[in-house]
Amino acid sequence: MTSERPYYQPVGNEERVFKAAYAQQLPVLLKGPTGCGKTRFVEAMAHDLGRPLITVACHDDLTTADLVGRYLLRGGDTEWVDGPLTRAVRTGAICYLDEVVEARQDTTVVLHPLADHRRELPIERLGETLTAAPGFCLVVSYNPGYQSVLKDLKDSTRQRMVGIEFDYPSEEVEIGIVTAESGTSRQVAADLVRFAQAIRRLDVPGIREVSSTRVLIAAARLTEAGLPLPEAAQAAIVAPLTDDRAVGARLAELLALYLPD
Ligand SMILES: Nc1ncnc2c1ncn2[C@@H]1O[C@H](COP(=O)(O)OP(=O)(O)OP(=O)(O)O)[C@@H](O)[C@H]1O
Ligand SMILES: [Mg+2]
Repeated sequence: MTSERPYYQPVGNEERVFKAAYAQQLPVLLKGPTGCGKTRFVEAMAHDLGRPLITVACHDDLTTADLVGRYLLRGGDTEWVDGPLTRAVRTGAICYLDEVVEARQDTTVVLHPLADHRRELPIERLGETLTAAPGFCLVVSYNPGYQSVLKDLKDSTRQRMVGIEFDYPSEEVEIGIVTAESGTSRQVAADLVRFAQAIRRLDVPGIREVSSTRVLIAAARLTEAGLPLPEAAQAAIVAPLTDDRAVGARLAELLALYLPD
C-alpha cells in the first residue's frame, strides 16, 4: 500500500538540497522559527525517499540512554530495549531529532560518530558498535530564536551537517498553504497572510517570535467553523503571541486595520 504524500509546498530549494544530502549520506540540520514547516518537510522527504521516519522530541532531560536504549526489567529478567536512534540505525530509517539543542550535552558522544563518515553508533552498555544501515539519515532541527548562551549547538556538531534554513514563505506560497490546509477561501487566506506580514514587520520588544504559518491555518480553520474572521484572528493569532498588554494593544490596532469587522 502506498500512502499519500504529506502535503508540503516547497519554499525554496530545500527539497533538492535534502535529497542531494540523503544521496550522499550526509546528515541534515534544519534551522528555523516555529510553525514554518520543518516537521512537515521531513515527513514529505521520508515519503519521497521511501524510508520510515522516527521522530524524537528532544527535551532537557533527554539522555544518551533515551536515544540508544537501556536494559529494562521484564518479569524478573533484564532485557535490552533499543532506543529510537538505535532502531533507526538498524533499520535504515530517517531519524529526526526535533529541537536537538535541548538534549543533554553528553548525547553528542553518540551523535558525532554517526554524523560523520564513520556512520557508527557506539552502544557502550552492549559493548557493541553498530554501522548504520544504508538508508539511515540523521536529521536534526533547531530554532535559533530560542537559543540562549547556555544552549547552542556545538560547532563540531553543526559542521558535520548540511544546513537548510527555513523562513516564512512568500505571500503567494503562504496563501496557497493556508488555503490547502484549512479549506478556506483564497480571500480569507490572503487577508490572514497580509495581517501576519504586518505583525512580522513589527519591531517591538515583548514578542519573542512572530506569527507562523501554523497560526494562520488555525485562524482559517476557526472561520471554517463559523467564527467571524476578526474573532478567529484574535483567538488564533493575537492571543497566543504575547502576554504584554502594550504589545497586545498594538496588535489589536493592527487587527482592526487589516481585518475590520
Ligand atoms: N511549506 C509548507 N507546506 C505545507 N504545509 C506547511 C508548510 N509550512 C507550514 N505548513 C503548515 O504549517 C503547520 C506547521 O508546520 P510544522 O509543524 O512542519 O512546523 P515546524 O517548523 O516543525 O514547527 P515547530 O518548530 O514548532 O515544530 C503544518 O502542520 C502545515 O499545516
Ligand atoms: Mg516541528
